[in-house]
Amino acid sequence: MASELCIAVVGATGAAGQTTLRILEERKFPVRELRAFASERSVGKTVTFRGEPITIRRIEPTAFKGVEIAFCSAGSAQSKEYAPMIVKAGATVIDKSNAFRMDPDVPLVIPEINAHAARRHRGILACPNCTTIVTVMPLKPLHDAGRLTRVIATSFQAVSGAGVNGIAELREQTLAWARGEAMVARHFPHQIAFNLVPAIDRFGPDGYTAEEMKLVNETRKILETPGLPVAPTTVRVPVFTSHSISITAETETKITVGRARDLFARFPGLKLWDDPAQHRYPMPIAVEGQDDCFVGRIREDLSSPNGLSFWVVGDQLRKGAATNAVQIAELLLHS
Ligand code: A2P
Repeated sequence: MASELCIAVVGATGAAGQTTLRILEERKFPVRELRAFASERSVGKTVTFRGEPITIRRIEPTAFKGVEIAFCSAGSAQSKEYAPMIVKAGATVIDKSNAFRMDPDVPLVIPEINAHAARRHRGILACPNCTTIVTVMPLKPLHDAGRLTRVIATSFQAVSGAGVNGIAELREQTLAWARGEAMVARHFPHQIAFNLVPAIDRFGPDGYTAEEMKLVNETRKILETPGLPVAPTTVRVPVFTSHSISITAETETKITVGRARDLFARFPGLKLWDDPAQHRYPMPIAVEGQDDCFVGRIREDLSSPNGLSFWVVGDQLRKGAATNAVQIAELLLHS
């Protein structure tokens, strides 16, 4: 690839798109030209990149001529419609949506874990679901050291995972509560302020949500463990940014707490915050704005001899979305 690239961001006005612009700036990604896209209603508005206003363009094939890498975070239906057209125009697409993740021809990539998979792309690379990314980061070193045999994961997911509307809803409900007014649920199925909602999206006939099945299927694809038993529960919580996941992992070979600490501390993209006596453990407000995932509360599973329980937190908009997508683009730069 050329040393400086023409980059498109589709969904540039959204939560993940905005963060992608910031991460491209922060990581000094070699951008020669940046083109921004959103829905029809935003055409003509501007977003900021490197201090300059960038006008939102209409999505049409000619607008992608000359684009080398396109980041898409406008939703699954939009990705299904636009990504093939963008690839046809000559660009490589890094897709944040659920549209292509389980397609066997599309690599599902977390660069610290399976950078090798990116090499066999055919124009589209998928970024995993935000909860999957934060969950799999600590699972990978445990799997390499002791072979995972079972995973139980319960997520506590920030409203940023539902985009700008989710963030606005928590803010509006909190302000309404402070003013003594009624809290109106528009975006989530129930009030999210001062509440927990154990349903991220639609339920399947087996009682699991689509989000829970993403966690199962994507974890297996990324770790290349097709039959790995994964028991998921995903919950929306009144936190603005950063997802937290409580995990119990069982391995074929026992991994002690001390060994796990060592494995986590050494793994790229993971940081250890595990000093409960000093009240030091990862929390969403402490992790917000950081690119790494943070692990703590590491302890032996009292119910299983080869089980470990721990707590991991990652900024959903960064490592869970934009940072991971830009890291994938960096892999392409060096391929
Ligand atoms: P817009 O701001 O014009 O609605 P979020 O995930 O934070 O809700 O953001 C979704 C992003 O996807 C926004 O940039 C939004 O643009 C964009 N988007 C939504 N629908 C479409 C569409 N049909 N075509 C292109 N972009 C879309």
